[in-house]
Amino acid sequence: MNICVIGIGYVGLVTGTVFADLGNDVICVDNDKEKIELLNKGIMPIYEPGLKEMVQSNFEDHRLIFTTDLSEGVRSAEIIFICVGTPSRDDGETDISYIEEAAKGIAKSLNEYKIIVNKSTVPVGTGDFVREIVDKNKEKDVDFDVVSNPEFLREGSAIQDTLDPERIVIGAPTKEVAMKLLELYATLEKPMLITDVYSAEMIKYASNAFLAMKISFINKIANICESTGANVSDVAKGIGYDSRIGNSFLNAGLGFGGSCFPKDTRSLLHTAEKFGHDFNLLKSVIDINDSRSSHFVNMMRKKMGGLKGKTIGILGLSFKPNTDDMRDAKSIEIINIMLSEDAIIKAYDPVAMENAKKIMPHIEYCESSYKAAQKADAIAIVTEWREFKLLNMERIKMVMNRPVIFDARNIYDPEKIRKMGFEYYSIGRG
Ligand code: UDX
Repeated sequence: MNICVIGIGYVGLVTGTVFADLGNDVICVDNDKEKIELLNKGIMPIYEPGLKEMVQSNFEDHRLIFTTDLSEGVRSAEIIFICVGTPSRDDGETDISYIEEAAKGIAKSLNEYKIIVNKSTVPVGTGDFVREIVDKNKEKDVDFDVVSNPEFLREGSAIQDTLDPERIVIGAPTKEVAMKLLELYATLEKPMLITDVYSAEMIKYASNAFLAMKISFINKIANICESTGANVSDVAKGIGYDSRIGNSFLNAGLGFGGSCFPKDTRSLLHTAEKFGHDFNLLKSVIDINDSRSSHFVNMMRKKMGGLKGKTIGILGLSFKPNTDDMRDAKSIEIINIMLSEDAIIKAYDPVAMENAKKIMPHIEYCESSYKAAQKADAIAIVTEWREFKLLNMERIKMVMNRPVIFDARNIYDPEKIRKMGFEYYSIGRG
């Protein structure tokens, strides 16, 4: 099938590449000239395991084209995917101006019947909005349909999630249109749910809000565990065995960051309020999440007798492991609080330091965990990169000023690490 993908961010690049890998001809369009030039040289704009290799092989086989020419992409495609960014405004409302821009661009080049698919996360009703914009701006009297096909991929495992999704949701105006999308996804042999456009749009927000709720729930339980002496890891295991609850997304820690959960929970809350609904449950989910960084730093301040003049080694900066994405990363909040209290920061992350430098240019960046730990009064585990679990702890202890670890992601076994001679504090574990 001939496909056009508009917006080559995380979702667009991964989706386009995987469609090409499945044998389709894909034109990826972005108005960022520099990004397109880099992609044409084989340089990835993001770090995502397995992506570079998959882009390279499909690019070499000419199934994957990167261009800034929107009309070339639109004219050649049967299906056009809109994957542009939908950032959050200050009041939580989703800014759909990039969607509008893409829809106008599509309208200008529409030369025959096409299916336009919204893959970006967009508030309910955006499908209608795209229809209106294309109708108003199209230059030829041709028909088209608008479909919602939300994306559920996670950063760090985006290729795997796209090739092996748990479900594919298609919100289409008619069965015939849905069938065209089914055909595209058929080779994946995964459960597919066909709904109306509004429901598909809502499924994405409801999914992310529910997962965010699980995280905030376990984080609140963690606080209570800290006061009562219970162990949140055991509690999460104990409740997770109940299949009605499930054991995933129950890791207590710093709460959710990244480009989706913070933005999507605020957007759903905005939609609820717009339609006159009190969604206090979701409000609490957001409030609990907003308090996680200060909760963690409070613990450090209390145990260290203040942070002023103390050297803290920060291990992990990205919002989660296996990505260089710093959007809404908890490390930023934590480091900013520490800096405001005159702590000295030495940070290390396996891949996110270049992006972190753009946001926090004034802290010291180190080339390894050991360098970040050198002469530190404490280290803080902020992102649970696998390599932090495999550190030579004797070496870490030797280089530190004081062997103190604050583990915001509960990656170490408290008993074992204390036996090694560390003063050790973690989340919700007594
Ligand atoms: C999320 C959704 O999982 C995905 O389906 C959607 O398409 C986009 O948003 P992503 O943001 O890439 O994906 O990461 P995810 O693995 O879901 O983690 C989100 C945040 O929650 C991270 O900051 C992570 O550290 C945090 N988290 C996750 C927890 O604090 N505890 C958990 O148990 C799980």
